[in-house]
Amino acid sequence: MAETVRHQIERIQAEMQSRPAGLIEHSKRVAAEAIKIGQYWDVDAERLELASWGHDLFRHEPDERQLQLAREAGVAVGLEDRRSPIVLHGPIAASVMEHRFGVDDRDVLEAVRDHTLGLAEMSLIAKIILLADKVEPRKRKRDPAMKLIRKLAWRDLDAALLCWADWKWVEERQHGYESHPRHWSARVHWVREHHFEIDAADLRLESVLRAPVC
Ligand SMILES: [Fe+2]
Ligand SMILES: [Fe+2]
Repeated sequence: MAETVRHQIERIQAEMQSRPAGLIEHSKRVAAEAIKIGQYWDVDAERLELASWGHDLFRHEPDERQLQLAREAGVAVGLEDRRSPIVLHGPIAASVMEHRFGVDDRDVLEAVRDHTLGLAEMSLIAKIILLADKVEPRKRKRDPAMKLIRKLAWRDLDAALLCWADWKWVEERQHGYESHPRHWSARVHWVREHHFEIDAADLRLESVLRAPVC
């Protein structure tokens, strides 16, 4: 019989008990935040809870261990990943959730995989998990910009993602970091989509303004 989502959550929570206390608390806060945002967007709370508890299963591991775990999990490792192996923790967690914990919900697995860098096309669950991870209470206390991004998430998840990507861009340049190519290509796609929507809206407005009044 297929394992219930609740049972999968409980097994992953049990696994998380061996992780650092800070990571456990962060996962709890991400779950609470994701469920709150998800209620507004009518997304199933258990699926969000499952992704939240799994997303940072391997966040605490040092670089060498990230590379080893990636090899074991069959996760592709690019040149950029070698420079910053921490970005592998999402793809590793998604693979382990699928193969060890029997999670077969593709949206949940993709949300876990892409929660660090994002992806051009993301499911509703993936967008919510990425944003909840960045705007949970501890993070927005640390950086007031996260409060604004959180506020925007209630109106427009795509605009909130784009604002987060802009924030990340500034952060990375200020600290002299390069952007990861997977994140950058997602960002370029989001910018294009956003401007296409604005252009489309402007064109509609133009045609309304040019149309005869009566
Ligand atoms: Fe993470
Ligand atoms: Fe996280």
